[in-house]
Parts: sequence; C-alpha cells; structure tokens
Amino acid sequence: MASSSDHKATVIDGKAVAHTIRSEIADEVRQLSQKYGKVPGLAVVIVGHRKDSQSYVSMKRKACAEVGIKSFDIGLPEQVSEAELISKVHELNANPDVHGILVQLPLPKHLNEEKVLGEISLEKDVDGFHPLNIGKLAMKGREPLFLPCTPKGCLELLSRSGISIKGKKAVVVGRSNIVGLPVSLLLLKEDATVTIVHSRTKEPEKIIREADMVLPCSRTSEPSGIKEFFIQGSWIKSGAAVIDVGTNAVDDRTKKSGYRLVGDVDFKEASKVAGWITPVPGGVGPMTVAMLLKNTLDGAKRVIEQ
Ligand code: GUN
Repeated sequence: MASSSDHKATVIDGKAVAHTIRSEIADEVRQLSQKYGKVPGLAVVIVGHRKDSQSYVSMKRKACAEVGIKSFDIGLPEQVSEAELISKVHELNANPDVHGILVQLPLPKHLNEEKVLGEISLEKDVDGFHPLNIGKLAMKGREPLFLPCTPKGCLELLSRSGISIKGKKAVVVGRSNIVGLPVSLLLLKEDATVTIVHSRTKEPEKIIREADMVLPCSRTSEPSGIKEFFIQGSWIKSGAAVIDVGTNAVDDRTKKSGYRLVGDVDFKEASKVAGWITPVPGGVGPMTVAMLLKNTLDGAKRVIEQ
C-alpha cells in the first residue's frame, strides 16, 4: 500500500501551457493579418538599466516576434524627466499601430509611477495597472478592459488544470500592486474566500495550512520575502493547489550565471502533500508573457475588428 510519503503532486507545466496559448495567439495574429492587413503592436518602455527589467523586456520582445506581434522598443535614460516620459506615453497613445503600452516597473525613484501609469490610454493598458482598470477589478459587476498579466496567468493555470475556484479557501501571500493585490481581487471575483497573508500577519503558517489553494508572491520587490515567507511543505494542506509566483535568485556556483531561480515554496517537500504545484522556473513565469501577448491581441482585435 502506498504510504503518504509516496504521494506526488501533479506538477503544472506552465511552459507547456504557455506554449499552447502562444500558438493559439500566433494563429489569430495570422488571421488578423490576412483579413485586415494589420498586426497587433506592443510598445515596451524601459527606463534605465536594471538587469532584471532588461531581461524581462527582452523575453517579452522575443515572444512578440515569435507570434507575429510587432514590438516597439523604447529605451529611455535613467535621468529622463517625468514630463518627457509622459510625453512618450502620449505619443504611443496616439500611434494607431500600437495597441498595447507597457511601462516596465519599477521606475527610478524620481518618477511618479502612479502619475505615469495613469497617463496610459485605457484601451492600451495591457498591464491592467491603470487605476480605472484596477478599480473595476475591485468592484462587483464591473469588468476591466484588461487583467494584469501574472494574476491572469495564475487563474489560467488553475482553470486549464481543472481546478475550480468557486467557494474555495485561497490564501495569497504578499500584497504587491503587480501581483498580490490584483490576484486576490481576481480570486474574489471568481467567488473564492480570499485571505491575504503579508509581512505583518501573525502566524502565517496557521492560515496557509487551511488553504485549498496557496499563491505565494512575496517576490522581487520585497527582498526579505524569501526569509520571511519561505513556505515549508508542512504548511501545505493535503491536496491543496500551490501556484508559486515567487522568483528569488539564490547563489549557485554550478551555474554559469552564478545563480539559480527558486520560488517561495519548498518545492520538494510541498510536492509530497500538495495536489498540484507549479515549479520555478517553468510555472507562472512563462504564463505572464503569454498573457501579455493575449492582452495585446485582445486590445488589437477591439480596434481592428470594429
Ligand atoms: N515588473 C515586474 N513585473 C512586471 C509586470 O508584469 N509589468 C510591468 N510593467 N513591470 C513589471
């Protein structure tokens, strides 16, 4: 008879799911191009030289090329003024070949992120970070034009894995504007009972142990995340779905880069108890890029097919 230690969670292969979605998108882009002679366009604005931002942006650029989306790359110097950045955003708002605008975050400290994101045309807000899109996500009976990419990718992974959300206890770990907060709102819209665990939460493991699904996303913007919220296998309820959004670089001399990426969860131990689990890398990451392409396609279709 199998003992409980023989249990192995189903590993959700985000890379494979993202690949399927990307080929669906490529088909639709081809059809648009044949029917209307137009392709979707995505503008990616990057300010300064952060290594992590540059690597995200180059991934996004490659993914666009692969599915036939035209990318517009705008690199601005670290010292750019807020007025210049906003004027660039306005120029992209007015460009009919651009259907999606993404301003890579975080911005240098002298730039007001709230002000800049608020200038992106609602119809081109493929990140879904415009206050009106986020506001609609938070409100009952309202639908935003775009959902933020990582949260949308998490829900897509759950649904394509046959995991229902309605009535389930979901615990989100982290409350960032990019992932934690919007994924909580999205789960609530899908009728989960949502709890957010954050840096001031007392006894987080007690709350996480109750969860039917756990979404740890205390990641990059909070460097202390991995120390505070490294989630042990013993914190996971038997059969729970674990969607690990954490991306933490840890030193690894066996790698050419000198580091490797790990999530916020002890994957090996959690796999022994969870029902489903996403790996890092190869789980949520590829889905974020796929959802950005999907949002750009949807934005383009709203304009081109009208
Ligand atoms: N920085 C880290 N993740 C993201 C994202 O999803 N969108 C943008 N614009 N910046 C980011």
